[in-house]
Amino acid sequence: MAIRHFLTLMDLEKDELHAIVQRAIALKNSPALHTDSLKNKTLAMIFEKASTRTRVAFEVAMNQLGGSSMFLSGNDTQLGRGEPLEDTARVVSSMVDFVAIRTFEHSKLELFAKHSRVPVINSLSDDFHPCQLLADMQTYFEYRGDIKGKSVAWVGDGHNMCQSYINAAEQFDFELAIACPEGFEPDAWLLERSKSRVRLVRDPKEAVKNADLIATDVWASMGHEEERARRIRLFAAYQINTELLSLAKSDALFMHCLPAHRGEEVTAEVLDAPGSVVWDEAENRLHTKKALLEFLCA
Ligand code: CP
Ligand code: NVA
Repeated sequence: MAIRHFLTLMDLEKDELHAIVQRAIALKNSPALHTDSLKNKTLAMIFEKASTRTRVAFEVAMNQLGGSSMFLSGNDTQLGRGEPLEDTARVVSSMVDFVAIRTFEHSKLELFAKHSRVPVINSLSDDFHPCQLLADMQTYFEYRGDIKGKSVAWVGDGHNMCQSYINAAEQFDFELAIACPEGFEPDAWLLERSKSRVRLVRDPKEAVKNADLIATDVWASMGHEEERARRIRLFAAYQINTELLSLAKSDALFMHCLPAHRGEEVTAEVLDAPGSVVWDEAENRLHTKKALLEFLCA
């Protein structure tokens, strides 16, 4: 059987993604469901960028399901000294059962996957963050039920998180309005492919109007640190604050993948308001990791 990789949400069928979300909810609610489903399985995590949630969630998920994990930072392996990615993929995947990669260029994930004998999981690239979307979808389902047909507003940078929301709109059948400053749009081909579900607007008020869910992300992602001051200026009108949120549905949820910069992309008031579900969203990284790992090794 062909190896299943998880590089973007489009690698799985809709029903598979929904099943992962439901399994994550079940695992969260019923500790009794925790069998040693990953017994003797090993996950290697090759991370070239910082991480708190993703790393902790992977390590705990493997541990609680009876497996183990190892963390390989870019500089600790021979990759940091120039060993080709293809060779690393062949070697590491001959010993472990899954490889999770956090890197810059998405093409590196694709190259690794091409030469890997085991499933490769995108743990954040410059283009996509599919694992985060599993947690976001779990959180929405828990609070409000099915997201199908709902209105979602993405406000801010059209980077990796936004691009995964575009894929999620396709796979979970919701309407997505994206508001971002000029020059910070998601890739045109992604917008074109999902044009029946996704629209791009300039005005954050227009995106947020009557939305069921509002999501954002930092203005300067990892790799954009040097542009931070410029971005703070250019994104100023895209802050999620109480005034903007008042245009959404009265029971709208707010999500942020975290880490958040209070006073930049979101005010502290919004982050700590009852409609903000960011802490459940973060915890759900663990439950969705378990469900994803079980799915990939089935
Ligand atoms: N949201 C997220 O991926 O967090 P970390 O960068 O802490 O893993
Ligand atoms: N867009 C952010 C997400 C971090 C989880 C980044 O790439 O740094």
